[in-house]
Amino acid sequence: MPVITCIDDLKRLHRRRTPKMFYDYAESGSWTEQTFRENTTDFQKIHLRQRVAVDMTGRSLESEMIGQKVAMPVALAPVGLTGMQSPDGEIKAARAAEAFGVPFTLSTMSICSIEDVAAHTSKPFWMQLYTMKDMDYVYRLIDRAKAANCSALVITLDLQILGQRHKDLKNGLTAPPKMTPKNILDLSTKWAWGMGMLQTPRRTFGNIVGHAKGVSNLSSLSSWTAEQFDPALNWEKVAKLKEYWGGKVILKGILDAEDAVMAAKVGADAIIVSNHGGRQLDGAISSIRALDPILQAVGDQVEVHLDSGIRSGQDVMKAVAMGAKGTYIGRAFVYGLGAMGQAGVTRALEVIAREMDISMALCGKRRIDELDRSVLQIPADFSGSWA
Ligand code: GLV
Repeated sequence: MPVITCIDDLKRLHRRRTPKMFYDYAESGSWTEQTFRENTTDFQKIHLRQRVAVDMTGRSLESEMIGQKVAMPVALAPVGLTGMQSPDGEIKAARAAEAFGVPFTLSTMSICSIEDVAAHTSKPFWMQLYTMKDMDYVYRLIDRAKAANCSALVITLDLQILGQRHKDLKNGLTAPPKMTPKNILDLSTKWAWGMGMLQTPRRTFGNIVGHAKGVSNLSSLSSWTAEQFDPALNWEKVAKLKEYWGGKVILKGILDAEDAVMAAKVGADAIIVSNHGGRQLDGAISSIRALDPILQAVGDQVEVHLDSGIRSGQDVMKAVAMGAKGTYIGRAFVYGLGAMGQAGVTRALEVIAREMDISMALCGKRRIDELDRSVLQIPADFSGSWA
């Protein structure tokens, strides 16, 4: 059993054990991947303020996101094709999140369906929604999320059209993979993955197959998004979806203060400052840089969360100390899943919790509600003064 001490250890194992096209799918940004890279390197520009001789006893990471108790302010982000990283991947990730006490968010583009995940978990999870041209399908998906007792709807706003990720095109990404000579060669070194996949019936988009009409190639994410996603999405439609759902709504993909103001106006319970992990608009600023102006614009009106770039407990701590009420990990849990299945997701959560706990203590903080900017050393021009 390899000794896992950090998220990078899980990433190395994920790469070794999972078919290349799925590892690459997770480990890609769009076009030059500048934003994908800066999401992580910008976190490193913020430093932590070490304090000493402060009582460290009685520490806790417990907190709340949208009024729900969380073991730490970290949720699992919606990630498409999670069930291709490991057989039944969404079920495994949801179970790990539930046991750890953090929210799991199921992607519309998941392999396991809403009903599959609900049947294998005992606490409510969150459902992510992509808006499609076929509104019947969208309303039925919301009905299915209600029937599954989901406790929040996460509406993604930054993917009406797919940003190009070169590797996915070059690899011919599909779920399941096509049996080309190149893929057969790759799969021959990933036999455990293949055996697991043969044993599960869940091998393509579970929320879509049997539920959506008129899709020419169901196994392809890019053709599905190009044909089905709603390019005419606007704030009025967002308000309608919110009303139809009737429960807690989180709006994902906000990177600009003006959009944050619009999101607060439609009455979102929370927004996620996000550039989709650098997978959509390459050249956009990192999420952590975008956080402060957004907090200043709407921080007193709506709960502000953040994703994109979080790979450690220190990153979570920095975002929360800056003012985010919660954060999301995507790749960090997917590495764990691809590396070791459910146990790997648990390991990723443990690694992050431990890093956060110790780092907070070394900054003289024992509880999440004590975290504030006093623990950070932020470069003077971090949020940028743009002409
Ligand atoms: C889908 O959400 C993707 O980023 O591929």
